[in-house]
Amino acid sequence: MEKYVINGGNALRGEVEISGAKNAAVAIIPAALMVDGICRIENMPQISDTDMLLTILSHLGAEVKLINKNTIEIDSRNVRFCDAPFDLMRKIRASYYLIGAMLGRFGVAKTTMPGGCNFGVRPIDQHIKGFNALGADIEVKNGFIFAEAPEGRLHGSRIYLDKVSVGATMNIILAATLASGRTIIENAAREPHIVDLANFLNSMGADIRGAGTDTIKVNGVERLHGGSYSIIPDQIEAGTYMVAAAATAGEVLVKNVIPKHLECISAKLRETGTIVQEYEDSVLVKGSGNLRKANVKTLPYPGFPTDMQPQMGTLLAMANGTSVVTEGIYDNRFKYVNELRKMGADVQVDGRIAIFEGNAKLTGAPVMACDLRAGAAMVIAGLCASGTTQIEDIHFIERGYENFVGKLRALGADIAIVDFPDEPEIHEKAVSVG
Ligand code: EPU
Repeated sequence: MEKYVINGGNALRGEVEISGAKNAAVAIIPAALMVDGICRIENMPQISDTDMLLTILSHLGAEVKLINKNTIEIDSRNVRFCDAPFDLMRKIRASYYLIGAMLGRFGVAKTTMPGGCNFGVRPIDQHIKGFNALGADIEVKNGFIFAEAPEGRLHGSRIYLDKVSVGATMNIILAATLASGRTIIENAAREPHIVDLANFLNSMGADIRGAGTDTIKVNGVERLHGGSYSIIPDQIEAGTYMVAAAATAGEVLVKNVIPKHLECISAKLRETGTIVQEYEDSVLVKGSGNLRKANVKTLPYPGFPTDMQPQMGTLLAMANGTSVVTEGIYDNRFKYVNELRKMGADVQVDGRIAIFEGNAKLTGAPVMACDLRAGAAMVIAGLCASGTTQIEDIHFIERGYENFVGKLRALGADIAIVDFPDEPEIHEKAVSVG
C-alpha cells in the first residue's frame, strides 16, 4: 500500500506552477463527446479523475490522443451510443456530466449513479429537474440512470434551480447546448469552472451567455465544430499551496493562476496575518509565523469554497485563538477533524459548525486521507507537524492534485511516496467460552 511519508518542519519556499482546473476538465472531457470534429485541449491536469473520464470516452469509441503531458486531442466523430464502463463511472462524481453530454449527442443516456467523495447525501434531483424541463424522460433504477428525449432531441426551457448547484448548472448547460430553442437557467452557480465550460463550448460553436452570473442563457445550436481550448488554472490547487505556504511560515510564488478567482482565499489568509501579494498571473504568499484566528463560512462562489475548508481548518487549528468554521454546502465535511485530533488539534464539531481552539502544536501520526481535500489537509498538517506523518488512502488525493509530491518537494518539503507491504488480514479465532 502506498502512503505519503512526511517529515514535518520545513517552511515551503520557492515557486510552484498550478495545473489546469480539475472541476473544469471533468466537464470539458464529456462535453467533447458532443463535438463534431477534433478538440484540442491544453492545460489538461494529469490526475486520476481526468484519466478515468478519458478512458470512459475511449470505451465509447472516441479517439483520445496524448499530444504532450498536458495537451490532448479528442475526436468523437465515430462515437456511437453504447453502454459505458459502469464500474469506472461509479467511481467518480463527474460521470454525471455524461448524462447531459449523451442526451445532447444521442438524445439518450444510460449511466450509473455517480460516485465521488462522501460528504453525506449528495442528491442529483436538480440535474434531473433540468433534464425533465428540457423534455427528457428519466428513470432511476437499481443504481442506474436512464434518460431519453422522446423525439430524439431536447427542447429549450426555463429552469429555476432550487439549490445553487455547480453540477446541475454545468449538466443543464451541456444538455441544452444542442437542444432546439433557448434555455434559461436561473439561480445558476457562478464558479469559474462554469464560465470555463461555457467558453469551451462557445469556442466550438455553442451560443451560451451569462455564465458567471446567476442567469445563464443557452441558445441551442445544430452542431459543434472542432477547435482548440486551454483550461483555466485550478483555484483549489492554488489555494492549497497558498495555505501550505502560510501554515509552514514559508514564502511561495504561486504561478499560472487567475488572482481574481483566489480573492476569497487571499482575503481569509490576510485575516490570519499572512501577506498575499497579487500579480498579473501569480500570487506571492508570505507566512508570518504568527497566525491569527479567523472565522470561515463556506458558500457558493464568490464565497469561500467548501473545497478549501479542510485545508483552512488545519491552518486555523494552529492559529492563535479560537476560530469558528461553518460548512455551508455539505452536511458532513468535517471527517478530517478526527485525523487532525490524532495529531494534537483541539476541535469540537457540532453538525455543520466546527470550533478550532487553536494554538495546536501538531505532532506526526499515522492518519488517513478521508477524501480528496481532507487528504490535502493532512498533507498540510504533516508539513507543519514535528516528527513523521504517514498518510494512507492517498488515491483520494491523486484524484485532484497533479504531481503533488513532486511540487511539494521542489518547495523544500520532506515528503515521499513509500510503498508499504500490505498488512496481513487478521482473522480472529473463535474462542469457545465455558
Ligand atoms: N445538491 C442537491 N441537489 C442536486 C445537486 C446538488 O441537493 O441536484 C446539493 C448538494 O448535496 C450540496 C449542494 O447542493 O449540498 C452543492 O452541490 P453541487 O451540485 O454544487 O456540488 P457537485 O456538483 O456535486 C462540485 C464539485 C465539488 C465541489 C462542489 C461545490 C465536481 C466534480 N465536484 O460538486 O468538488 O465541492 O461542486 O463547489 O465538480 C472537490 O473538488 O473536492 C469537490 C468535492
